[in-house]
Amino acid sequence: MEIRPMQPADVPLAQQLSDDAFYEAALLSRRESDPPAQRRPPARAASWITRTMEFLATDAQGCVAAHDSEGLAGFAISVRREDVLWILCTFAVRPGLQGKGLGKRLLEASAAYGSDCPRWMLSASDDPKALRRYRLAGFDLHPQLMLHGEVSRSSLVAVEEVREGTSADRELLDAVDRRLRGAAHGRDHDSLARMGTLIVDTHDRGYAYAHSTGPTLLAALDEETATRLLWECLARTEGAAQVGHVTSANQWALDVGLAAGLSLGVEGHLGVRGMAPPAPYLHNGALL
Ligand SMILES: CC(C)(COP(=O)(O)OP(=O)(O)OC[C@H]1O[C@@H](n2cnc3c(N)ncnc32)[C@H](O)[C@@H]1OP(=O)(O)O)[C@@H](O)C(=O)NCCC(=O)NCCS
Repeated sequence: MEIRPMQPADVPLAQQLSDDAFYEAALLSRRESDPPAQRRPPARAASWITRTMEFLATDAQGCVAAHDSEGLAGFAISVRREDVLWILCTFAVRPGLQGKGLGKRLLEASAAYGSDCPRWMLSASDDPKALRRYRLAGFDLHPQLMLHGEVSRSSLVAVEEVREGTSADRELLDAVDRRLRGAAHGRDHDSLARMGTLIVDTHDRGYAYAHSTGPTLLAALDEETATRLLWECLARTEGAAQVGHVTSANQWALDVGLAAGLSLGVEGHLGVRGMAPPAPYLHNGALL
């Protein structure tokens, strides 16, 4: 099977294939205490397509696909930021074809795009095939905790010294990200702004994107600022909340989540090469 550059017409098929692959992987790895495995809701499927079209426009060399007689067989999508950081955004092979070497070829083709970047990041599922693939590619794998449930409203503390941000805050956001992960998110803030409300520390020491289910990204220069930003995100949740991607370097997030009445579980891994897990930092699954 030939590995080729991904085309815009592949993107809706890739969305469907990735939903199938991740749903199946979640069913297989689910523990009894985990929230139920879910299909991607239509709104998230639409934003997946929008975001992937943007990756294709800006980072075409990182986007690769393979086809067989049944159609799209697999794909890998990666971006690079400021010539420093290569990020694997997403990667999937059609469920019936997994475990036969196609993933290795797709990952190698996509990673060639970041071969001269000193830092690499990815957010891994619990699929043992993915973990094997990533470790063999040289990633350090850091298991993650996550907090989930309904926020206990009586636990909420009044948060001061945060405000809603705008695109005029981009320089601040970029400076924080360079300190924490070596490269700014740059244009990824357009995608992030569609995923949540930008909350900024009034002392310019951090920011977060708050979605109704919890933070979709949180970055701060100290744990006190990170703690305030997370409380603000939790105050803005409605119904079931989730704080994911908590590596062992981010114990402060566990303290906030537990104080807010959330339950603790384990989910996925952060994969890094050439860097340590950022902290205080809760990464975004696709934009890291
Ligand atoms: C992760 C994924 C993209 C990898 O693609 P793939 O085609 O399955 O990958 P490969 O076959 O190249 O590599 C899988 C490795 O795991 C091994 N493997 C196969 N079945 C396995 C199993 N049940 N448990 C552990 N390892 C297994 C394979 O032998 C291979 O190792 P090898 O290269 O040393 O022989 C694919 O499995 C997938 O789509 N998974 C679900 C979605 C997902 O988790 N995506 C990754 C996001 S982080």
